[in-house]
Amino acid sequence: MKNKYEKICKTLDDTKELAYNFAKLAEKGCFVSLYGEIGAGKTAFVKLVAEALDVKERVTSPSFVILNEYHTARIPIYHFDLYRLENEGVKTIVDELREYSEGKQLTFVEWAEFSQDEIPFNHLKVNVTYEDDDSRKYTFEAFGKSAEEITEGLNND
Ligand SMILES: Nc1ncnc2c1ncn2[C@@H]1O[C@H](COP(=O)(O)OP(=O)(O)O)[C@@H](O)[C@H]1O
Ligand SMILES: [Mg+2]
Repeated sequence: MKNKYEKICKTLDDTKELAYNFAKLAEKGCFVSLYGEIGAGKTAFVKLVAEALDVKERVTSPSFVILNEYHTARIPIYHFDLYRLENEGVKTIVDELREYSEGKQLTFVEWAEFSQDEIPFNHLKVNVTYEDDDSRKYTFEAFGKSAEEITEGLNND
């Protein structure tokens, strides 16, 4: 079992390819925790995954509303942006997030950088680092069996 995967995406098209590969592997559902500074490419990845899953609505950043949900794709997609929460807020919300980690749904959570807390349930951690104007590095780390199936699949692509 390979629980890690990383890819350097030199262009947005490379990120699109990664997102489409990920989407194929994630149709059983997954809780995805995204880290990285502003402008790194967290929302860009979520948008491309949603597109791969045939979402009908326009996917926008949930920075101001905290949660966007989409029910027109092949599986329900929940997209949180917790950038505005202070550390205390993150601790209080973790239990509520747990229910989004269960079942056949895809949940993305964009965290502020200060909140790299341990998440106490199965999830896939994605760290996005900014290389230069277009180049990004996406690092995936699986915590739990279903997430490991995804990193293993990405490694085999
Ligand atoms: N290779 C790439 N991968 C992802 N985003 C890229 C890439 N190259 C350029 N970009 C651009 O970088 C920006 C990333 O912004 P966004 O995804 O909103 O960041 P975050 O959600 O991490 O704050 C987008 O405007 C996107 O088009
Ligand atoms: Mg964002």
